[in-house]
Amino acid sequence: MAISHQRNSPIREKLLAYGQQWIDDDDIAAVVEVLRGDYITQGPKIHEFEQKIASYVGAKYAVAFCNGTAALHGACYTAGIEAGDEVITSPLTFLASSNCVLYQGGTPVFADINPNTYNIDPDEIAGKITELTKAIIAVDFAGQPAEMDRIQMLAKEHNLIVIEDAAHSLGASFGKRKVGTLADMTMFSFHPVKHITTGEGGMIVTNREDLYKKLLLFRSHGVTKDPDRMVKDDGPWYYEMHELGYNYRMTDLQAALGISQMTKLENFVQRRREIAAQYNEAFSKLEGLVVPFQHPEAESSWHLYMLRWLPERFTVDRRQIFQALQAENIGVHVHYIPVYLQPYYQRLGYEGGLCPKAEEYYESAITLPLFPKMSLQDVEDVINGVLKIHSRFKIAL
Ligand SMILES: Cc1ncc(COP(=O)(O)O)c(C=O)c1O
Repeated sequence: MAISHQRNSPIREKLLAYGQQWIDDDDIAAVVEVLRGDYITQGPKIHEFEQKIASYVGAKYAVAFCNGTAALHGACYTAGIEAGDEVITSPLTFLASSNCVLYQGGTPVFADINPNTYNIDPDEIAGKITELTKAIIAVDFAGQPAEMDRIQMLAKEHNLIVIEDAAHSLGASFGKRKVGTLADMTMFSFHPVKHITTGEGGMIVTNREDLYKKLLLFRSHGVTKDPDRMVKDDGPWYYEMHELGYNYRMTDLQAALGISQMTKLENFVQRRREIAAQYNEAFSKLEGLVVPFQHPEAESSWHLYMLRWLPERFTVDRRQIFQALQAENIGVHVHYIPVYLQPYYQRLGYEGGLCPKAEEYYESAITLPLFPKMSLQDVEDVINGVLKIHSRFKIAL
């Protein structure tokens, strides 16, 4: 693609976000209908939304939460994680994937990534399993499912619970199976940059009834009115608290938005795949750039598109490349700073150098804009912006 812009005028006049929701009139009407009705907190829309997600992914049960982080907390609680337990997870993720272990008093153990897929490497997991290990939290980085077949084998061998952090991967599959049936519990997030949105929102799907029941209790103060579970019956008003739960409930307003958004999910995912394919085509042959690699069994739903800029192939460092793309009004981002490098984790005793492949990845990665509402022109602008900055800073060989 030709670069037609002058060196000093930005490719775009206005900043293009790196990710954004797509809300249409149907979505707005669905929320307004709830506002005009009788229930705005826990009404019928919650269960309907749960059913929609469960049947889409092919899982038996689903529990909606007020956000994905609360859902992950619920999964850790339900997995029985407590002080003294170790939970193995990826360093290359959002903070919530390991913070949920800390909430339960457990210890996150970081296993390094596969340098090609950027997902947690099952061989690295195997090396970190001890007699204290209770669970594995696999993260489907950028929308590409982790190697769940090998992770499940390890879990079976060592009697571990598997939680899949699928905040990035609604609509993705591994082998012939959709994300949502590959782990004991799978978490989705409905934050606005994700595949569908409810504003804030999250969900756990599972095929296990025991986990489902515990998740329901945890979401709402540990309270039950189930006659089969209650110790006694004081009257029709009576309820019992059986566990220390929280108020992590989603509202009917959010669920109505989620139900409406679900009708568009397949199109959203398809559009993400098309944009990623265009980026791959434009960048894969450019020297010094590395486009995301796909595991042959994985079909990504492309939450993020990361481009690596190999430091030895450019005259400037990643910070300057990032700033140059920003100056073109391309809304770039970096996903992620390895979690254990955060000051809080450092205070807990985690040290730099723990996962060298994740750190090397972090040093060179830049996330490009990717969301279904991008116009053809937006996509072209990103491509032209990258080509412009690449040709400005590449080291000629
Ligand atoms: C990988 C990952 N896990 C967990 C979360 C937490 O989800 P939420 O923002 O819905 O709490 C996010 C959100 O960005 C995420 O990217």
